[in-house]
Amino acid sequence: MKLPAIPPYKTKVVEPVYFRTKEERRAKIQEVNYNLFNIHSDWVIIDLMTDSGTGAMSEQQWAEIMLGDESYAGSESYFKLLRSVQDILGFEFLAPTHQGRAAENILFSATVKEGDVIPGNAHFDTTKGHIEFRKAKAIDCTIAEAFDTALEHPFKGNIDLEKLEATILQYGKEHIPFINITVTCNTVGGQPVSLANIQDTCALAKRYGIPVYMDIARYAENAYFIKTREAAYADWSIRDIVKAMFKEAEVVWMSSKKDGLVNIGGFIALNDPELYEKLGQYTIIYEGFLTYGGMSGRAMGALAVGLQEGVDFHYLEDRVMQVQYLGEQLKKHGIPIQEPVGGHALYIDAKRMLPQIPQTQYPAQLLAVEAYIEGGVRGVEIGTLLADRDPETGKDRMAEMELLRLAIPRRVYSRSHMDYVAATMAKVAARSHELENGFNIKRQAKILRHFTVELERAKSTQKEASSLLV
Ligand code: F0G
Repeated sequence: MKLPAIPPYKTKVVEPVYFRTKEERRAKIQEVNYNLFNIHSDWVIIDLMTDSGTGAMSEQQWAEIMLGDESYAGSESYFKLLRSVQDILGFEFLAPTHQGRAAENILFSATVKEGDVIPGNAHFDTTKGHIEFRKAKAIDCTIAEAFDTALEHPFKGNIDLEKLEATILQYGKEHIPFINITVTCNTVGGQPVSLANIQDTCALAKRYGIPVYMDIARYAENAYFIKTREAAYADWSIRDIVKAMFKEAEVVWMSSKKDGLVNIGGFIALNDPELYEKLGQYTIIYEGFLTYGGMSGRAMGALAVGLQEGVDFHYLEDRVMQVQYLGEQLKKHGIPIQEPVGGHALYIDAKRMLPQIPQTQYPAQLLAVEAYIEGGVRGVEIGTLLADRDPETGKDRMAEMELLRLAIPRRVYSRSHMDYVAATMAKVAARSHELENGFNIKRQAKILRHFTVELERAKSTQKEASSLLV
């Protein structure tokens, strides 16, 4: 008999969870206008809002916290981080930033200008935001299979090379400062990109003389999927796969709050000394001196260790298997999820689970609110609320998919927590046919509305509700 797989760690410090009744939660969510960002964390039982910055650090990382060198310039913690980046990712230069979007700000300040076009696989919203803020355009070239949640495909994060080439020809290579590959691709469900696709994308880019940049927030999980799903690499180590993934990339940037196993941090890594020098000017104005760039010494030390731990095969296997386990439990209860399950989160298809709720009433948000009321499980809407309005017409951009994302923090929850989440969703599913109305918007911000939006339960008929939003 094979022994069961177990997490390659045990618990040293615990954090309490507070329990409240369903009625208390029902009243609370109404009081905060049905916006889960307004809920205090002690009102949440299982917090699956994000896997970003929510992981647990190891004893070695906490030891580095004590060893942190807080010197303004030349901090030893910076050099520890630099050595990890050189060792694991294979880049010579390192620009630390306080998190991923700060890396985007610096990198794009140096490389993106008005009228530019950045093709890629479903850019993350802050990436898209930083591109659009500079009056440039993000063009999504993800394969079409990614948008059918029921379709099995091992690498739904892949780039459609025909779409990419058509984009290059349409806009002209002189307007394309770089091609952006995001690994794993968060926006389409934490779906991986195959090494073959990375290599083909880089070869195509090279033919047109366009550099490839990579957004590597969840690169280690992507490497795990390459090892387990792409036959040619089954015997490769995670570290060798990581090196192969980045071989042709000119620049990578990272939100280290994910696969860096830290609570805060980010960076840009590259080999080009000229671009590094240019980035340095922006680092100094926006973040801090070159050897800390918005991070404390102790945070850099913890990240130096977190990067090493993040490419450990046993850790990655346990991590990805936990996400897959929750996927299996949800499927057993007949909950429609994005398949195959990605690396960091489950995405529940609200269009399939609540077909009676029109998109104009934000079905994925309704699902998020009901999961919170039912079991205190906090996820996040990835649908029309998040997609926001078209800046030109001011009308809602109907999202291609209406998803409730349940993102799993790293090294935090146990299998019984996952069973609790699955049971909560099963209870919501059992009464889903009773849900007749979604939400109307009471108040919304000009941009990035989902963080602060105020909602009310829609009472109107579906037809009237859609006319309200026009
Ligand atoms: N790129 C990707 C692929 C991301 O998922 C994120 C953040 C960022 C960039 C920005 O990094 O948050 O450190 O500034 N994703 C978080 C999430 C917020 O919940 O998926 P950041």
